[in-house]
Amino acid sequence: MAVLPPRELDDGCTDTAPKELQELSHSAAVLSIAVSDEYIFAATSNGEISVWSLGSYQLVQTIQAHRHSVLCLFLTSDYKYLFSSACEPIISVWCPKTFVRLFEIYSTYDVGDVFSVVYSAQRDTVYIGTQTASIQWVSLKDAEREGSAESASHPDKRQHRFFDSRAVGGTSTPRRTEDHYALIPRAQALLEIDSGAVEQYAHFGWVFCLRIARGPSVLVDADEDVLVSGGGDGTIKIWRLTDDGTDYGDGDKVNGGIVKLLTLGEDDGQSVLCLEVDGSFLYAGKLDGIVELWDIDTQQKLRVIKAHDDKVNSLKMSFGLLWSASASGSASSHSTVHDTKDAFGSSSEVSQKYQCLSRWKAHGGRVLSSAVAVHGQDQLFITGANDNTVRVWRVNSIPTESVEAVDHLENMMLKSLEDFVSFKTVSSRPDFTEDCHKGATFLGSLFKRLGAQVEMLSTGGLHNPIVFAKFSGKFMPAEKRKRTLFYGHYDVVPADTKAGNWQSDPFKLKGKDGYLYGRGVSDNKGPIIAALYAVSDLLQNRELDSDIIFVIEGEEESGSRGFQDTIRRNKALVGHVDYVLLANSYWLDDEVPCLTYGLRGVLHATVCIDSKLPDLHSGVDGSNMIFEPLSDLTLLLSKLKDRKNHVNIPGFYDGILPVTEEEELRYDDIASILIRRNPANGPIDALKRSLMARWREPNLTIHRYNVSGPDGSLISSHATANVSIRLVPGQEVEEVIKSLRAFLAVEFATFESDNTLTVRIDNKAEPWLGVPGNYIFRTLEEAVMQAWEVPVSSANGAGTVTGEPKKMRKPLYIREGGSIPTIRFLEKEFNAPAAHLPCGQASDAAHLHNERLRYLNLIKSREIFKTVFGKL
Ligand code: BES
Ligand code: MN
Repeated sequence: MAVLPPRELDDGCTDTAPKELQELSHSAAVLSIAVSDEYIFAATSNGEISVWSLGSYQLVQTIQAHRHSVLCLFLTSDYKYLFSSACEPIISVWCPKTFVRLFEIYSTYDVGDVFSVVYSAQRDTVYIGTQTASIQWVSLKDAEREGSAESASHPDKRQHRFFDSRAVGGTSTPRRTEDHYALIPRAQALLEIDSGAVEQYAHFGWVFCLRIARGPSVLVDADEDVLVSGGGDGTIKIWRLTDDGTDYGDGDKVNGGIVKLLTLGEDDGQSVLCLEVDGSFLYAGKLDGIVELWDIDTQQKLRVIKAHDDKVNSLKMSFGLLWSASASGSASSHSTVHDTKDAFGSSSEVSQKYQCLSRWKAHGGRVLSSAVAVHGQDQLFITGANDNTVRVWRVNSIPTESVEAVDHLENMMLKSLEDFVSFKTVSSRPDFTEDCHKGATFLGSLFKRLGAQVEMLSTGGLHNPIVFAKFSGKFMPAEKRKRTLFYGHYDVVPADTKAGNWQSDPFKLKGKDGYLYGRGVSDNKGPIIAALYAVSDLLQNRELDSDIIFVIEGEEESGSRGFQDTIRRNKALVGHVDYVLLANSYWLDDEVPCLTYGLRGVLHATVCIDSKLPDLHSGVDGSNMIFEPLSDLTLLLSKLKDRKNHVNIPGFYDGILPVTEEEELRYDDIASILIRRNPANGPIDALKRSLMARWREPNLTIHRYNVSGPDGSLISSHATANVSIRLVPGQEVEEVIKSLRAFLAVEFATFESDNTLTVRIDNKAEPWLGVPGNYIFRTLEEAVMQAWEVPVSSANGAGTVTGEPKKMRKPLYIREGGSIPTIRFLEKEFNAPAAHLPCGQASDAAHLHNERLRYLNLIKSREIFKTVFGKL
């Protein structure tokens, strides 16, 4: 896919989008966003607040927060309270760490929708801006003086002019209650806004936005909070916050109050949709894409910036830039300072204040909200829109060359994976040969950059090279160091996008809902990158004692062509090996971590039937005098197995190892856990039988037929079929090949056909069976338990939200039906035991469209490799 160069927009701005790290989807429009150091909170039009973890983009929780659209979220800077307001007269206060609903606040007045909510820590008071043009407030100190749901003034109990008016005959319209109302958690305390705690007609219009600011310095103390409100009447008002009570005669004193200090912008009736405070500066987002800049101190409008083509719905000052988001779907960044690169001020060189730096299409719909955050080294701008998505943009550029700082490594891992995936390293198609070589070169230089000694091992010119990289342990003499060989493959299977079944470009890493999508991201590029950065972490920490040798080939998906010869030729270079480690399979489901100790072997064969005659016309030439190749082939293949998939090749089921007692227990363990997680996996006996059939029994598959000649009424002169046989530990691939050949030859002979039969073996792999209790598996087991510790009752493993005690869970020991040609070879060649860490989940869709890897699995795999490489 061609990459378009950045386009210059009318105002000299470019349309270059920052890097989109993740797209998080929701079932409804995202109206407001808040971000803490741990979580992204998104409030939506179906009354929910979704919570994602900031580090891994896992959905942690969805809270039914309100009955109707949540309009505003406000998070205090100490992350003590999260306030939410909605299209209902109830404001909620949440703990942003435990998600407990602390307070329910309601007004005794008809407030309509509550557009804005803000909190002053100085006054411990919440201020709300309403559809009825009022500003109201309540102090959280009043929590003791709580109202109750039984109170006649609670909105649920108040007379409603529609629902509660009597119709003819004295009946009233029933109120609609919806199922999801019941999901709203009960608050720990109720707070009623006192009838005196209201500023009626604070604006001549809806109060869209509220902010806490400082100043103006001539009227208030420098460190005193003031309230800023923006209204549908186009004005911005500054309010002093007071503690003075207003006595309403009944002995009830209202705590706090607001006194208007200033009104700005009376000349313009355009709604103020959002506000952002920067010292004494105030930015106001308005209709028609306008951002106004006001100085509170001098009460002057300093600038009018045309930022977008439609409403400016959100403004954020951060990282020295002004970020804005608009109903047009675009987001933009503006510089706020003169760029004084040129000290002598050649005017063309000096960038303007409030110059638009980039304006990009952030969403398909209207952008309604935004937030800024920092995570690790990443500066993030986060947008929410009515296309039901939240998008996370990385707005700083990350250094790709410098690896001095450890902190850079986390986002470097993602960047490296993104680059790695962009190479179309499809080994099975000759037209991708160049891409494969470029991918190998990229990987080689990445290894080198992170400190390895690298060699490209040619596999005889015809096939893709093997990338060999050695990281040397530092703190022991070479002869004492243990040596681990990590095997992986940089080649991938093709990705067919023609049928439109890929949701994103397979060779462009796409982050969505906590997953990374792209061809090869799980099989096998992601795991390789995780292992590489684990070694890099150890080097940075000066904790690498052993030698780690990476052998990453480019022909695995094509049967590891040339691998054995090349490794034998370079045996001296590889040297002695103590352990073989690989990471190229998946968990049994999406939740329970596994270790893989067995793989089936495989042989791929092409069965060919050829006629001495050319392609013929079936009408002109077809008769019982002709031996048709495709008919011969069909008849021959039909002899291979019966209706129940039982294979007729003599000795096909010989050599299968008996089930040991230990193994039987393992199957029991696996089946019971899988069924406990999802009863649909049962019944237990059927599940065990299915697992055993896939892992410890051979099978034969007919994949595909091919014929010569164009479509039409042809008798093709050549017909071939692709057949594969999976074999299991206890069987030898060469033996199986011999008996397949013999069986086909004997059967074909009985046809007495004029045609000829040839059987070609395309590739083959020995089965592998590891030893679960050995040192390398025990080390892996410990590391997996450490990385994936999961709270006892957590059903989805999402994390410890409620502070439950953590319990270590053992990984499941599983086998796999798939094959990796080199594993048994490496074990035998180096006389070293192998172990296999599956990094991906069952739903990764390797070899299929929309292949993916959960970002959390990538992060955890890196942790696991770090522990394992550190110990082995
Ligand atoms: N990662 C797979 C092997 C695999 C598949 C392991 C399923 C666990 C579960 C590997 O990349 C692969 O695709 N292997 C091929 C080998 C063949 C081309 C010789 C296979 O299994 O078909
Ligand atoms: Mn594969």
